[in-house]
Amino acid sequence: MVFNFLAIRFKNIHLPFGIMDTICKASEDPATAYLPDSRLSLGLEDVYIKPTRLTYIDGERGELRYLGYRIEDIISSGASAEVIQYAFLYGKLPDDSELARFRALVEKGYELPDYVVSSVAALPRSSDVVGMQAVAMASLAAGSDFQWRKIHMPDTFATMLGQMAAITVIALRHAMGKEPKLPSPTASYARSFLVALQDKEPSDEKVRALDQAIILYLDHEVPASTTAGLVTVSTLADPYSAVLSALAALRGPLHGGATEGVMAQLNEVGEPQAAKEWFEKNVASGKKRLMGFGHRVYKAYDPRALIFKSIAMKLASEGQLHKMLTTALALEQVGLKSLAVKGIYPNADFYSPIVYASLGIPYAKGAYTAMFALSRTAGWLAHFEEYVQMGGRIIRPRALYIGPAPRTLAPKT
Ligand code: CMC
Repeated sequence: MVFNFLAIRFKNIHLPFGIMDTICKASEDPATAYLPDSRLSLGLEDVYIKPTRLTYIDGERGELRYLGYRIEDIISSGASAEVIQYAFLYGKLPDDSELARFRALVEKGYELPDYVVSSVAALPRSSDVVGMQAVAMASLAAGSDFQWRKIHMPDTFATMLGQMAAITVIALRHAMGKEPKLPSPTASYARSFLVALQDKEPSDEKVRALDQAIILYLDHEVPASTTAGLVTVSTLADPYSAVLSALAALRGPLHGGATEGVMAQLNEVGEPQAAKEWFEKNVASGKKRLMGFGHRVYKAYDPRALIFKSIAMKLASEGQLHKMLTTALALEQVGLKSLAVKGIYPNADFYSPIVYASLGIPYAKGAYTAMFALSRTAGWLAHFEEYVQMGGRIIRPRALYIGPAPRTLAPKT
């Protein structure tokens, strides 16, 4: 009875390995039938695992705020990435001298140890770029003797932001077949990144767009990647190991890996005129999900999607990029017509790949997810520290046993 109710409750969840059958059969199992279903929360939907002062999402109204500031206001204020990174790590906006000191701490991180650079260089150039970031992060974790303390220590995390920028540059350059090169200080996180990646001065428009992209992806409360990192931090493992966990979770196609899925989707659709037919054949038929659409929390437009869209419309004004943009616009219309009634709208990943492509970020395996990771590192670290500061306990949930009833194993004769 209990398990039949479970089957109804979870009818929308596609469980692997016939687990739903197992759950239903288990109702006849005296060892498990008494367990109340209310203990289960698949996907931890609406489970609150920590309080936070960092990010607020109103999924019904499509609202996102960082430290109380609306994302739209932050973007139109012209704030640089490092101003918002500072706000996440230190809990307030910086004045000029605080910002200068923060930049110096970040720039210290650009000087990666040689063993980190060579750990990436040793990988095949065809490796996934997030995988390369993870290898570099694992090298830093291996050499870390970091101890969490109850005192606030954001300076350490500032330097980790510089390390993440340097790691992302060497990983992307490796994928592009280029020699390793570390960023140099330029008084702008975004500019230093683009100069080191592309060996040339970027336009102010591109630097501004990267600043905006970093801010848009900087934090999003506790999605799968942040939660994975929090699980690691809750054991008091070092922050490099926690970022490594977060990277691993980000990589999947349902989370940050959706940026790759969106690119593949746009290439498959090919041109705006083909959007309707492609959607009918692939999404309406139930064969595929529309990548870059849908969100666990937003049941309205993801506000980041709207801002990414406006940036893409400024940058992708001609050639192949413009074609990609018009294809995305057509696909969005078709998708909305059929999915908006279910509360499924474009998410941040729908237009961000076009912004990345316009910035000249190479379309290598995992490259756009790696850009997402670069942005999210400040949010991850801020949540990790917030969790330790509030005395967060080890995260140790339970699994509801539905296996065989107790039975005996006779000794071998
Ligand atoms: N296309 C078609 N149908 C969808 C989509 C989609 N993109 N997203 C959800 N649905 C349907 C799903 O098939 C299910 O339908 P039914 O009730 O008829 O079986 C219903 O909506 C509920 O789906 P769910 O998987 O239970 O919802 P969830 O909250 O567990 O999943 C999600 C959220 C983001 C994993 C999902 O919307 C999805 O797979 N989207 C596509 C991948 C994507 O764009 N991910 C990026 C997420 S946001 C930014 C980021 O984190 O990177």
